[in-house]
Amino acid sequence: MARNSYEKADFWALKARKEGYPARSVYKLAEIAQKFGIFKPGYRILDIGAAPGSWSLWLLRQMGGQGFLAAVDLSPLAISGPADQFSFMQGDLYSPAVRQRLRGFGPYNAIISDAAPATSGNRSLDTDRSEAIVEAVLDYAEEMLVTGGNVVCKLFIGGGQRALLDRMKLSFQTARAFKPEACRQESFETFLVGLNRRPAPPLTGC
Ligand SMILES: C[S@@+](CC[C@H](N)C(=O)[O-])C[C@H]1O[C@@H](n2cnc3c(N)ncnc32)[C@H](O)[C@@H]1O
Repeated sequence: MARNSYEKADFWALKARKEGYPARSVYKLAEIAQKFGIFKPGYRILDIGAAPGSWSLWLLRQMGGQGFLAAVDLSPLAISGPADQFSFMQGDLYSPAVRQRLRGFGPYNAIISDAAPATSGNRSLDTDRSEAIVEAVLDYAEEMLVTGGNVVCKLFIGGGQRALLDRMKLSFQTARAFKPEACRQESFETFLVGLNRRPAPPLTGC
């Protein structure tokens, strides 16, 4: 018998199945996008931690043939998209070769990340790994996001949220945490949202 929301198909899971998405997480992105106005037609977007592919599929449906979406994950996708508008790379976001390849599809107007470490059951270890992923996504954003661009990244809530938001405030006009309604009640995830990237500081040195 189903005992909690991890064991039963909840409202969002049923809706995702009906609308053809491989994961319920799509409604988290839809809510964030609606609240913060993350995307515009024609945007170039990078989706980090994209498998099985609900966020990517939702974006491709929104894009209506304009713009470009690059995506990366350790695992393969369960969705596909038109080759002239979508490129998926199976690999590790920490890999320099992956980063170099993704740099080639940029610069991006938005970088989004639902990437999460495989949970170990040790909350402190899991939040440390999640914070490391957010740091890596912010590195991508600082290197590959256009001025005025936006970033969204998932974080397992631990002790590091304030420091991550402080880092984001240096690069974005607005930086805040937001927990969409589609997050499971018992989940300890939130999303860090950075809006309107400030101009990159000039390079110094000889
Ligand atoms: C919650 S799932 C993403 C769901 C996705 N947004 C969707 O809507 O289908 C988290 C993903 O992060 C990926 N991930 C975790 N660590 C990663 C890494 N170092 N490099 C690439 N992907 C990673 C996992 O493989 C997993 O597929």
